[in-house]
Parts: sequence; structure tokens; C-alpha cells
Amino acid sequence: MTHAAHAALVPTSSGLDGVVAADTALSHVDGALGRLVIAGHDVEALARAARLEDVATLLWATAGLAAPVTALAPALAAARVAAADRLDLLGDALAADDGMDALRAGVAHTPVTGDLATDAVLVTGAVAVIAAAWARRRAGLAPVAPEPALGHAADYLRMVTGAAPTPARARALDAYLVTVSDHGMNASTFAARVVASTGSDVVSAVVAAIGALKGPLHGGAPGPVLDMLDAIGAPAAAEAWLAAELAAGRRIMGMGHRVYRVRDPRAAVLERALAALAPDCAGPGDAGAGGRLPLARAVEATAARLLRDRRPDRPLCANVEFYTAVLLDAVGLPRALFTPTFAVGRVVGWTAHVAEQVATGRLIRPASRYVGAMPA
Ligand code: COA
Repeated sequence: MTHAAHAALVPTSSGLDGVVAADTALSHVDGALGRLVIAGHDVEALARAARLEDVATLLWATAGLAAPVTALAPALAAARVAAADRLDLLGDALAADDGMDALRAGVAHTPVTGDLATDAVLVTGAVAVIAAAWARRRAGLAPVAPEPALGHAADYLRMVTGAAPTPARARALDAYLVTVSDHGMNASTFAARVVASTGSDVVSAVVAAIGALKGPLHGGAPGPVLDMLDAIGAPAAAEAWLAAELAAGRRIMGMGHRVYRVRDPRAAVLERALAALAPDCAGPGDAGAGGRLPLARAVEATAARLLRDRRPDRPLCANVEFYTAVLLDAVGLPRALFTPTFAVGRVVGWTAHVAEQVATGRLIRPASRYVGAMPA
């Protein structure tokens, strides 16, 4: 079965879901089997060993941006340095209360060269630098200059926390960034492709995508997942807490997905990365992987059971956000930075999709169905 034919068969909950919006060689989401393929590789295999630079090289090359991305690590490091040099020129962008508002306003200042590959690298560097600088400012601290010798994930952690991370933490963050680098025609990627299809530029497309990612139904769930785990506190309290939420008509954050009808494969990847990180997080301040992973597993199992009992016809399983929350907390990122950190990884996919869309030369122009009144 072709990808396009498969997409048309994905179960839908609104009349327009499953409509094929583009042919893509970048990633394939199989909602029935719970499989994510990124440019020919299963996400599990990529997340085990690849760094964000590797998956960026893979995605950008797949989208036809091969030439300037051959030695990506130094190019991306230079992009971080360039973005840090422009921090003083961002006006009040970093003063925003919400990290995604800061990212939207700050990334909008990224210069556009008009060369897609150059612009993809520049904007990828800018997202990490601006997210980190926003978190520092929010904590009343000065920004930390990039360290070009470090990988992108390690340097991002360093720019946020002020200290070089342990290799285990940098590896865990890389596993996360790789895992979220691309995911089919999700809302933010679609937004980026629509902007790119008009002949606009990479930065405008990424700014639109940031706006779409901000919403709690897309990228805004991991903070609330951690709030939920904190509120539950211990596995024994999970059932009563979750049942009360459902009885009050509220959704369980980190559960359910528009496409997956089984457990999101990215949840398993992140759960494994967390288990590998656990020995690194045994210190007293590290509620992270060591403390929260058993609780998260217990809450997931209880939530899945309660949701199954309520709606046997509508499978609702853990999505990527569930273990994202625990992992990002464990590597030392503040929860207000969770959604901006999603953008640090996803910008690689957005820019690859922009290149792929530009190569088609086609304007995306979906139809609407008029349901209003007709003139008398
Ligand atoms: N908790 C409780 N019930 C849920 C639920 C959840 N997390 N997710 C879906 N449902 C229920 C809905 O209430 C609805 O029930 P109803 O038909 O009785 O009204 C039914 O399942 C179908 O929901 P629907 O909104 O059509 O599904 P969707 O495909 O639009 O939703 C999400 C996908 C991700 C938006 C949804 O599952 C959700 O809101 N999850 C929580 C937020 C989250 O984790 N977001 C991150 C996504 S990666």
C-alpha cells in the first residue's frame, strides 16, 4: 500500500482528517500499528544513537538540501553564535511571560538570506539560543554564550542551566530531540508548509509553525503532565485523582492522539531513554528519572485502564507528551521551557518540509465548504 493510500485510510474523527495534504519522503506515521518512520529509519533506531545534527542532516538531505549540510555540527554551532550575537536586537521579545510567545517574536528577527539550506541552519540555531535566553531571563540570569565545541543538545542544556551537562543527560536530550524532529503532517508542519507554498521564506514558515505548536492540543501538554504527576504524588493516589478528573469532564494530559490508535511509539522511546538516564539522576535534587519514572508508569497504566473502561470504542493511550515531561524535567529543564524545547527539535522537520514544499512549486489551497446563508 502506498503512503498516500494508507493515509486516506487512517481512522478519522473529523470529516477532513486523513486527507492527503502532501507527498513526503520525510516521515510516515502509522497510527494503527504505532510506527514512526523518519526518512527510512524507525524512530527507535534513530533515537538510540543519533544526535539532532545527524537527523537534521538526514532530513535536510532527504528534502534536497544536501550541499551545505555536510559538516553540520560546526555550521549549526556558528548559527548559535550568530543568534547569540543578535540577542540584544530582539526588542522586548525575551520579556514575554510565555516561552512560545518569546520564541515567536524572537525567531521572527532571524535574517533571511534566501538560500534555503543556509536559512534552515540559521533558524535552527536561533530557536535553541532564543529559548535558552528566555529561560535565563525569566530566572533573572544573564544569557550564557554558546560553546561551539559542544553538540547542539549539550550546548542547549548548557545555555539554559549554565553548566555543561553530563554525557548521559546530553544523550537523553538528544534522544528526545531526535524523537520529535518530524511527525508527518501535524498541525505546525502543515502551517509551515502552507506558508512556504506561497513563496514566502523559511523564517516566516517557522514563525507560523511556532504559533501552531504553542496550543495545548499540539505541543503544550508536557508541562501539565508534570503538574498532574505532582498532584497525584504517589501511585496509590492515581486512581482516585484520575477518576475525579474524568468525572469533572477534564481530559487526562499526555493521553490520546489524533492519529495513533495504539500507544504512541515515541512514548516507548522516551521511556527507554529515561530508564537509561535513571542512574544519572539519583541525587537529592533529582526527582527526575529516578523518582518520577515509576510514578509515571503507574499513572499511565491507571489512566489507560480508566479511559478504556469509559470509552471501549475509542482507544486512548499515552502520547509523546507523557514521558516528554518526565525526561525534560530529569535533564534539568524548567517546565516552562518544555514546549519551546519541542520546537528546538521540531524546527529541523519544519525546515525540511519547507524545502520539500518549495520543491513542488505548488500553492496549498484547501477548499472550504460553505454552510452559510445564500442571498435571497
Ligand atoms: N482524556 C480523556 N478523554 C479524552 C482524551 C483524554 N486525554 N482524549 C480524548 N478523549 C475523549 C474525548 O473527550 C472524546 O470523548 P467524547 O466523544 O465522549 O466527547 C473522545 O475521546 C474523542 O476525542 P477527540 O477530541 O475527538 O479526539 P482527538 O483525536 O481530537 O484528540 C487529542 C486528540 C490529542 C487532542 C486528545 O486526545 C487530547 O486532548 N489529549 C490530551 C492533550 C494532549 O495530551 N495533547 C498532546 C497531543 S500529542
